[in-house]
Amino acid sequence: MPKEKLLITGASGLLGHALCLQAEQAYDVYGTCFQNEVMVPYVTPIKLDLADTKQIAQCFQKVQPQAVIHTAAFSKPNSCEQQPEKSRLINLQATVEIAQLCAASKIPLVFTSSDLVFNGKDAPYYEDDPVSPICVYGEHKAAAEEAVREIYSKATIYRMPLMLGAAPGFESGFLAHMVRTLRNKERLILFTDEFRTAVDTESAASGLLMALKQPGVLLHLGGRRRLSRFSMGCLIADVLKADHALLKPMLAKDLPMPAPRSPDVSLSSERAYVLGYAPEDLVSYLERSVPGIVQ
Ligand SMILES: NC(=O)c1ccc[n+]([C@@H]2O[C@H](COP(=O)([O-])OP(=O)(O)OC[C@H]3O[C@@H](n4cnc5c(N)ncnc54)[C@H](OP(=O)(O)O)[C@@H]3O)[C@@H](O)[C@H]2O)c1
Repeated sequence: MPKEKLLITGASGLLGHALCLQAEQAYDVYGTCFQNEVMVPYVTPIKLDLADTKQIAQCFQKVQPQAVIHTAAFSKPNSCEQQPEKSRLINLQATVEIAQLCAASKIPLVFTSSDLVFNGKDAPYYEDDPVSPICVYGEHKAAAEEAVREIYSKATIYRMPLMLGAAPGFESGFLAHMVRTLRNKERLILFTDEFRTAVDTESAASGLLMALKQPGVLLHLGGRRRLSRFSMGCLIADVLKADHALLKPMLAKDLPMPAPRSPDVSLSSERAYVLGYAPEDLVSYLERSVPGIVQ
């Protein structure tokens, strides 16, 4: 029997890459990219600019997907703050277009939102808590969630936490940056007052594939530990046996950035755990993946 066609937007991204690696066993995977390449064999790459809604419709016409996981995004909050119109086009308008296309064909859709739909003053956050974004990126993700729900009640919305991943070609990610800095014996500045329930991209990808069988739900896909960025740095330093003196603690208010920062967007993800989401312990993931990160 032929495999179902799964369209993954953002297949050249950190999460999309991990997702493609897991999905290709069960699905005929088509992966979209924009400025970078899809680096997973057996995935059919498709160049697509999400800012152009016509291109999205053409992509659906060409692929005729039977399910869609939408991970593509203008994903850097500081860049969104500086380019709000670009964020609106990619994070909101493109998501609306994708939801409309999926609704018209009645195919499963999973949309990846963010823990940054919350202001970070009242963690841990549950799925039923009201959204309270404080940055442009969070505002557009929250608006996209609402639009997806209105357009297509069978769409699944997953709020993602901070994700740590390591793969060739993703040397600029948060994890790779911390590993390289510590290996080079350089100072690493990390906030002590910003908390997330981070998860690794492989666990997040397996949670997203589970979502295809959970139509119409809103779920949090957080990890099990609430950690500050500084504590994450300590875990990585332990794995690398690096000198902890290289880790420089800092308060977020002492390093102003374009986007306001939510202090604690820890997610409660019990609902997803009950449904079978089983994120790997972060330390075990780091021990397994950090040695393979190239300089
Ligand atoms: N990473 C995190 O810690 C985190 C936390 C919470 C939520 N999320 C959400 O999780 C999802 C995946 O994040 P990620 O970390 O994998 O993001 P990422 O590594 O930044 O990848 C973003 C993807 O979107 C694509 N993209 C960007 N602009 C595009 C455009 N104009 N047209 C078409 N594609 C475009 C990129 O393509 P090219 O690279 O080829 O240009 C890339 O494939 C996103 O929805 C993000 O908002 C991420």
